[in-house]
Amino acid sequence: MLAKLSSFGFSPQGRARIRERFSPPSYVAYLVFMMLILALIVQYLFALADGHGPHGDDEMEPGPVNEAPPKFTVSDHIGQFVQEWPERTGLSDYPSSFTRGIEPKNIHSHNDYWQKVPLYQGLSVGAVSTEADVWAHDGELLVGHERTALDAKRTFRSLYVDPIVDVLKKQNPVTEFVNNTRCGPFDENCFQTLYLWVDLKTGVKETWPLVDAQLAPLRERNWLTRWDGKTIIPGPVTVIGTGSSNWEVLIGNKTRARDYFVDAPLLKIGTESEQMHTDGKTPLYDNTSSPFATTSLITAVGSIKGELSEKQLKKVEKLVKAAKERGIQTRFWETPNWSTRRRHNIWRQLADIPVGLLNVDDLEDAAYGDW
Ligand SMILES: *[C@@H]1O[C@H](CO)[C@@H](O)[C@H](O)[C@H]1NC(C)=O
Ligand SMILES: *[C@@H]1O[C@H](CO)[C@@H](O)[C@H](O)[C@H]1NC(C)=O
Ligand SMILES: *[C@@H]1O[C@H](CO)[C@@H](O)[C@H](O)[C@H]1NC(C)=O
Ligand SMILES: *[C@@H]1O[C@H](CO)[C@@H](O)[C@H](O)[C@H]1NC(C)=O
Repeated sequence: MLAKLSSFGFSPQGRARIRERFSPPSYVAYLVFMMLILALIVQYLFALADGHGPHGDDEMEPGPVNEAPPKFTVSDHIGQFVQEWPERTGLSDYPSSFTRGIEPKNIHSHNDYWQKVPLYQGLSVGAVSTEADVWAHDGELLVGHERTALDAKRTFRSLYVDPIVDVLKKQNPVTEFVNNTRCGPFDENCFQTLYLWVDLKTGVKETWPLVDAQLAPLRERNWLTRWDGKTIIPGPVTVIGTGSSNWEVLIGNKTRARDYFVDAPLLKIGTESEQMHTDGKTPLYDNTSSPFATTSLITAVGSIKGELSEKQLKKVEKLVKAAKERGIQTRFWETPNWSTRRRHNIWRQLADIPVGLLNVDDLEDAAYGDW
């Protein structure tokens, strides 16, 4: 067809002559050709209007250059829009998003350093309580269950103190809007403290001064719950010493200010064999020294079958009540892990009483399992 068109010769004799010479099919081709040219002209005019219209004129004028990013408009499917939104708009950084959407739960991450990722794994499921076993060694505090598990790099500072500072920095940003918050690690509840249990594997007198010194980064930022000698001032982190029975050196003087607390022996609370203060009248452990009292569940009630028997449950309830009367919460450790059904039964019984914290090894199961 192109070959035919190129043979059109517009002779000076005029259109009538041309038409005469053309057979009908060629005439149709001629019409199509003219329409094509018309379409090209129209397209050219539109392009002209686009390039030199009002927008084009604006660009020519002197003044500030418009630097607004290209607009991200809804196109295709909303699924794609949602997917691309963060990258395309750059608006998705939510200042306190690190723990956003995580509901804090009364879960204690037992021997937390055994988790693949210490501290963070517990926080990621909403565990409000974590635990590090520490050994004093050459002026450092190493974390591990027994000496064979120690490693110079896995310290109380590297696994707990420094990461906690990082998390709390994210939750307590200094911006033009706010600069003096004291929020805990959970975005859902600023007032939820993180209980940090420090389980001493070496003596109090040798170990606690190291713990005390290593808490400095938290202390400097006013992030520790403290006792000022008269009242407790809540903070983002509440440190609790455990694993020793010689706490008199730390809490014996009840009017001395401190920013740590100690585990109280649950089986002794309110009994005659309870350790007394040096005044001989008041108990050593009270709600100013100890937010929690703990015991081994097996020691408290003996071996457990499929679940706590009625008698065992009564015993546990009595212990919880004795602590509660003194304003102290409870945690039972050495709770059965196996079978899963037995573990779930006992979690449920303890949570229903309720105890203050559930002692947990399998964090995901406790947080999201169907028990
Ligand atoms: C912190 O905020 C207060 C007011 O809310 C303001 O007076 C103070 O200057 C701020 N400090 C800093 C370091 O931004
Ligand atoms: C207890 O601590 C207070 C405050 O630090 C101090 O004044 C007092 O002397 C201490 N008491 C004893 C017996 O050490
Ligand atoms: C702590 O114990 C004292 C004395 O038993 C009691 O008056 C006070 O209410 C308790 N505080 C809390 C927070 O339970
Ligand atoms: C449950 O498992 C944890 C960790 O594996 C262990 O430390 C604890 O002793 C176990 N509890 C019982 C009752 O066996």
